[in-house]
Amino acid sequence: MRIAVTGSKGQLGSALQVALQGHDLLLIDLPENDITQLAATRASLAGFGPEVVIHAAAMTNVDGCEKDPQAAYRLNVLGTRNVAVAALECDAAMVYISTDYVFDGRKAEPYWEWDDCSPLSVYGRTKWNGERVVQQLCARAYIVRIAWLYGQGPRNFPQTVLRLADERGRLQMVTDEVGSPTYAADVAEALGLLVQQPAYGIYHLPNSGVCSRYEWAREILARTGRSHVELIATEKYVRAARVPAHAELRNFCGAEIGITMRPWREALNAYLAANGLLVS
Ligand SMILES: NC(=O)c1ccc[n+]([C@@H]2O[C@H](COP(=O)([O-])OP(=O)(O)OC[C@H]3O[C@@H](n4cnc5c(N)ncnc54)[C@H](OP(=O)(O)O)[C@@H]3O)[C@@H](O)[C@H]2O)c1
Repeated sequence: MRIAVTGSKGQLGSALQVALQGHDLLLIDLPENDITQLAATRASLAGFGPEVVIHAAAMTNVDGCEKDPQAAYRLNVLGTRNVAVAALECDAAMVYISTDYVFDGRKAEPYWEWDDCSPLSVYGRTKWNGERVVQQLCARAYIVRIAWLYGQGPRNFPQTVLRLADERGRLQMVTDEVGSPTYAADVAEALGLLVQQPAYGIYHLPNSGVCSRYEWAREILARTGRSHVELIATEKYVRAARVPAHAELRNFCGAEIGITMRPWREALNAYLAANGLLVS
């Protein structure tokens, strides 16, 4: 297939380059390609003629979005509109990567794909508006929600935990923020399967199961031989953005077509092993 990937240098984009080997890929990222520029985005997609566009580029710094909403709307909504228009003109199917932060986390049960959205933050609102833009413009669209993504590079939770553990020998992590870690390699592989099927709609594809930030950090420390690091459980980490307290994404639609995600602990082990960090 001919597949265009936006945000190709990011965590998910990098994993997609590995998972989609064998396909013909157009990689779109800064500084060469800026999706906030409509004409340039149309020109680069038209020149390639993709069958599928996987749109992973976004402003992902959640607190940064709170501090600069205009930049967040520009990239996450306007940029998404541009990619959707360009995909439409090529008659390409569109895959929009979204987030559990479209929910407020107040539901006592896991969220279905069709549950009402009620984001708490600027980031969540921009991603939800991105979903709506894609749904309005593209008839052949997959909206894929993931959560707590980690993959290549230093800007993710496991790498931050390891860095702070080594620098300080002591960590504080919240117990009142619960979600589903998502290994970028796993979701990239799932996306490779999904785009083979014309089953358009909304999907929830994080790794299965949930944990608190505290439990996730404890697992990372244990698996990398850092159980001696002091880990203190706290509540209410003060930050610019409000985030959902408990957002478990139920994978109903993916499972119906044979796309399931392994448990988050297994995925974490695979990530740590792939990075030479797994000791037990
Ligand atoms: N990270 C998470 O925890 C998480 C959770 C749920 C959902 N998601 C969603 O998953 C997707 C992938 O996330 P990720 O963590 O892989 O993101 P990421 O690592 O931040 O990568 C995003 C990429 O997009 C690029 N980009 C930024 N502005 C651009 C522009 N104007 N034109 C073209 N490219 C641009 C970034 O470049 P620069 O680095 O130079 O800015 C970066 O290479 C996003 O849609 C995100 O909303 C992420």
